[in-house]
Amino acid sequence: MNYTEVPPLGDRGLILVTGGLGFIGSHTVVELHNAGFEVVIIDNLSNSSIDVLKGIEKIIGVQPAFVQLDLRDKKSVQDFFKTHTDIQGVIHFAASKAVGESVENPLLYYENNINTLVYLLQELQLKEKANFIFSSSCTVYGQAEVMPITEDAPVQQPISPYGNTKKIGEEIVKDVAKISSINAILLRYFNPIGAHPSAEIGELPLGVPQNLVPFITQTGVGLRKELSVFGNDYPTPDGTAVRDYIHVVDLAKAHVVALQRLISGKNTEKVEVFNVGTGKGSSVLEVITAFETVSDEKLPYKIVERREGDITIAYANTDKANSVLGWSAQSTLEEALASAWKWERKIRG
Ligand code: UD1
Repeated sequence: MNYTEVPPLGDRGLILVTGGLGFIGSHTVVELHNAGFEVVIIDNLSNSSIDVLKGIEKIIGVQPAFVQLDLRDKKSVQDFFKTHTDIQGVIHFAASKAVGESVENPLLYYENNINTLVYLLQELQLKEKANFIFSSSCTVYGQAEVMPITEDAPVQQPISPYGNTKKIGEEIVKDVAKISSINAILLRYFNPIGAHPSAEIGELPLGVPQNLVPFITQTGVGLRKELSVFGNDYPTPDGTAVRDYIHVVDLAKAHVVALQRLISGKNTEKVEVFNVGTGKGSSVLEVITAFETVSDEKLPYKIVERREGDITIAYANTDKANSVLGWSAQSTLEEALASAWKWERKIRG
């Protein structure tokens, strides 16, 4: 695979990665290391495993610094910043992300995703200079009217509390940046999939996966009987819903270039927003076909009703990330699926 090269940064800085043992966080830790950054990870292990540290170590050859800490504990956050005064940038992944669970337990989501953001920003606004990358989501666009989706497409009222935490999170970052020395980049992810090509780290869904690709790979290894395709009566070419699936390693590299932009002071606004996707839409049936090609397995599936809250189509216009960040996704859907498949087979032994 030929990924965008990340130029090494001259002076090494300590970067805090919250949620750094999670799916996107762990891949970003690897890419930060590759780009010459020193990293300290905070994670409360609520949706990750300490084994991920070993996976990262196998890839980069050293174990990154790790602090087990729950960001909902304000005092611990304050203490952390008292003992880590040399942090040059923060990439904030730590958050809950299950849409259905957020509908059932909204306050858990507001506490996990909003309180923690507030506590972090309270510490960062005390600094002379702070660089902050926030994990946002294309969910803030709802069903956009125009495809591909540009960053200036209107933000809509999200259907789920999870989506709302991303919308509110963006607003909080913007408000705080206005009155402080914080510079920030909001990255709106499309659909992250795949795993590191080494298969040392990847996605570890809790329970039955809600997302398409982990459900497919678990069906492929026989852990699930069949995939339910949620609706084939959408106004799309084959009737199934269309998304922009981006390889998690490409997504991780977008964080590194965004951070380098902030650190080198090249940002033109206090808060910049970028879509992070491939720019290409794929239907559920196209993903199934691509998976069958790379795995050489027949995937059992049936068509069922649409899933409540799902949109028809979403794929990114990535012109801004391409021209301003000099970043573009390098992996194909097939490469991303092949890496997810390799990872799934490895963890199932
Ligand atoms: C979902 C979340 C979104 C979140 C993103 C994180 C919802 C409504 N949205 O996006 O807020 O940011 O995950 O990755 O949950 N599908 C099936 N069968 C399955 C699973 C999925 O057909 O078993 C279909 C879905 O209907 C959808 C596509 O596959 O068309 C992708 O689904 P998924 O991976 O859950 O992502 P999103 O729904 O796009």
